[in-house]
Amino acid sequence: MKKPHHEVVDAVDIAAAAAVLEEGGLVAFPTETVYGLGADAENPAAVARIYQAKGRPNDHPVIVHVAPGADLDYWVSEIPQEARQLVAAFWPGPLTLILKRAGHIPDAVSGGQDTVGIRCPSHPVAIALLSAFKDGKGGVAAPSANKFGNVSPTTAQHVRDEFALDDEDEGSISDEDACSAQLLNTVLEGGPSQVGIESTIVDLSRLATHGPVLLRPGHISAEQIADVIGRLPAAPDQAAPRASGTLESHYAPRTPVTMLDGDALTATLARLHAKGIKVAVIAHALPTLAPSQRLLPADPAGYAYGLYAALRDMDQTGADVILVQTPPQDPQWLGVNDRLRRSVFGSAGIIDSLLAFP
Ligand code: TXA
Ligand code: MG
Repeated sequence: MKKPHHEVVDAVDIAAAAAVLEEGGLVAFPTETVYGLGADAENPAAVARIYQAKGRPNDHPVIVHVAPGADLDYWVSEIPQEARQLVAAFWPGPLTLILKRAGHIPDAVSGGQDTVGIRCPSHPVAIALLSAFKDGKGGVAAPSANKFGNVSPTTAQHVRDEFALDDEDEGSISDEDACSAQLLNTVLEGGPSQVGIESTIVDLSRLATHGPVLLRPGHISAEQIADVIGRLPAAPDQAAPRASGTLESHYAPRTPVTMLDGDALTATLARLHAKGIKVAVIAHALPTLAPSQRLLPADPAGYAYGLYAALRDMDQTGADVILVQTPPQDPQWLGVNDRLRRSVFGSAGIIDSLLAFP
């Protein structure tokens, strides 16, 4: 039998979760982008537990989440005018700024770099948690609440699935999962994340030499940023800060994923079906072609909202391959295409090898 989960978060749950953070524990919480796995950003041992639970290399920096109205001067050593403009325009919201870090930010948060990523999320449960934690003066270090390399969670159930929190039979989960489950003291419920893909990341730490740099595209577009600061953020250069979410192999389900235009997808599907190969399909503009198919909205915001749940659900179907209809390539689709490109990484040649199999 599964444990009952709180459907609605109340002030008592928030206070309890804030106390868990203050004691050095981990809390998974909803944000408008994806669910985060949080720890006190000023407690290096607590931050180390995030890396342990995720199975993530510990030299990768994590984003510090702050409450609305937080004192940016406390967290960063230099605040350029562009940062103040972007904060005024987009916080609370799905935008992370990379800035020169203040001296007291632990290396565990910054990945040993001289910068810190900081964002104020807009999800009401995240705001309530950040406002309760250390009376709104703390910072919660939080990567997405998934195992390293996996698809980010956009519901509380996805988080429980990632860390095997519903498995009561201790014998059925690995030591590593049991360890993660213990570390993850609390999962706050907040419904499906409204944006559905991770925050836009803009590097403002090297303005004088490189200008603003878009490290990760997201719901807030480069054009919207340019409208506020008067300069279009550039694509990442060789010297741009490392970002784990920008590794090629991120956001990948276990099933191989491949992208095809509508006609090619239909033809390939017929050939795979003819060989008895099980296929799952994610489309935005195709009739129903396969028993396991998810139709996502043909607009970038609606598509982003449904993308990770679709990847997770299609991953559960037992298909040998997931075929994704290539979305439009216009600038508004940059965030979606970036995540899909990483999901298909490593699956090159999968169709040929499936068809070659006798
Ligand atoms: O929407 C989001 O940003 C979600 C929610 C939970 O806020 N968080 C998230 O965290 O996506 P994570 O750890 O999965 O991805 C954060 C990205 C990583 O690519 C990390 O390397 C980068 O932000 N990052 C964090 N601090 C950085 C820094 N100081 N310099 C460069 N990149 C940084
Ligand atoms: Mg992540």
